[in-house]
Amino acid sequence: KTRNTTGFFAAPEQELLCIFGTGDFGRSLGQRLLQSGYRVVYGSRRPHSCGPLPQGAQVMSHTAAAAQSASLVFVCIHREHYDFLETLAPELKGKVLVDVSNNLKKNLYPEANAEYLQRLIPGAHVVKAFNTLSAWALQNGPSDASRQVYLCGNSAEAKEAVSEVATKLGLTVLDRGSLTAARELEDFPLQLFPEWRLPLRLAASLAAAFFFYLLIRDVVYAYAEEGKDISFRIMVSLANKVFPIVSLIMLALCYLPGVIAAFLQLYRGTKYKRFPDWLDRWMLCRKQLGLLALAFASLHVLYTLIIPIRYYVRFKIAESTISKNKTSVFDTTLAWRADSYYSMGILGYALYVLLGITSLPSVSNALSWREFSFIQSKLGYLTLFFCTLHTYLYGGSRFLSPSTYKWYTPPGYILSLVVPSVVLVLKLLIILPCVDRTLTRIRRGWERTDPE
Ligand code: HEM
Repeated sequence: KTRNTTGFFAAPEQELLCIFGTGDFGRSLGQRLLQSGYRVVYGSRRPHSCGPLPQGAQVMSHTAAAAQSASLVFVCIHREHYDFLETLAPELKGKVLVDVSNNLKKNLYPEANAEYLQRLIPGAHVVKAFNTLSAWALQNGPSDASRQVYLCGNSAEAKEAVSEVATKLGLTVLDRGSLTAARELEDFPLQLFPEWRLPLRLAASLAAAFFFYLLIRDVVYAYAEEGKDISFRIMVSLANKVFPIVSLIMLALCYLPGVIAAFLQLYRGTKYKRFPDWLDRWMLCRKQLGLLALAFASLHVLYTLIIPIRYYVRFKIAESTISKNKTSVFDTTLAWRADSYYSMGILGYALYVLLGITSLPSVSNALSWREFSFIQSKLGYLTLFFCTLHTYLYGGSRFLSPSTYKWYTPPGYILSLVVPSVVLVLKLLIILPCVDRTLTRIRRGWERTDPE
């Protein structure tokens, strides 16, 4: 506290920063800079009619603002209007120019905006930064996701100066290297759920393929062979086949890359060789695959819940009660089988939900790696096992009955069992003690040396 008297805590001279452009982003940035203790001067095409600006900021023409002593200039202008900056080259010489711009589409221009700016004003030090933040995030105070500022530039000192400002605004800086990385940074905000694209495409293709397959097998077959119109089944019966089938296949596809990777390591006898790109990409979208599969399983559960209140089902029950009018013999085996397959479905679904919940970042961040991998791997295989068993038990003795192979095509659920069965068998092989021992050694860095 005594330092107060020696001037340690005296208010420092407030640094002046310049912002070109008085749009939403420029205004929000200015406000944050003012709140963080900087002085701000705006450069504007129309300094007298540029709308409300944050209190405490000055506004003047670009030339006048550039001529101020500010060493850091934020260029909050769209790229289309950059060319006039060339005339300011003498005033901007030696200054740090922060390019915050984004484009509407990828590959709109031959070079990145920041590289273009550097070409226009070679005497300045251009740093690409702040473009992944929105005006909204700046105004509302950054949340976790929008706290990161990516930057790149050719001058280390210029980057240092920009990092200092960003850190003062409460942001985390991630240096992405030289200005050649600008294009990559400019593409970031244009990405629309990139990691969901592949799983969504896969889900849509599987759903469409099974829908048409089952439509032909059920509805078209009944019409062509028996002259019956059962098209009403599209709404519930068909949907309640397509959704669980796609769900089961996608759940199995979450675990297939893991077993493929294990076999690849066993085959190569080392963990130090890179996996093929397709396998890497597949592994990276397992979470999204799993969450989509969970969504489809939830639809199956909801559709199953309404089976007893369906008009068709109630009609069938009433009809058989009236027409038979006699008690049939209770079949214990059938009761066991029906109850078992419901039970497996319920257990499978409960674990499925647990997997979904623990894959959410807020939950997985609270778990240790061991806890996370226990749930996602061990309980994950158990989920796949329950769901597969549910489907096997549902098929039951009908598997081998020729009458289910309409037009020589197998029922949908038999097709849905192929991938899960393969995954479970391969996993079973991997956990055999002798295989497991070798795999564990490989994963701890041991390498098989080929006898040559
Ligand atoms: C079929 C119930 C969860 C996969 C069925 C059927 C029922 C049922 C009643 C027969 C549907 C019909 O007759 O058309 C349940 C219940 C569940 C559950 C009560 C949990 C609350 C799951 C889960 C999966 C799954 C988590 C895994 C993805 C399947 C499959 C079929 C099926 C593949 C065969 C679809 C077909 O081709 O007819 N389930 N299920 N089920 N279920 Fe589930």
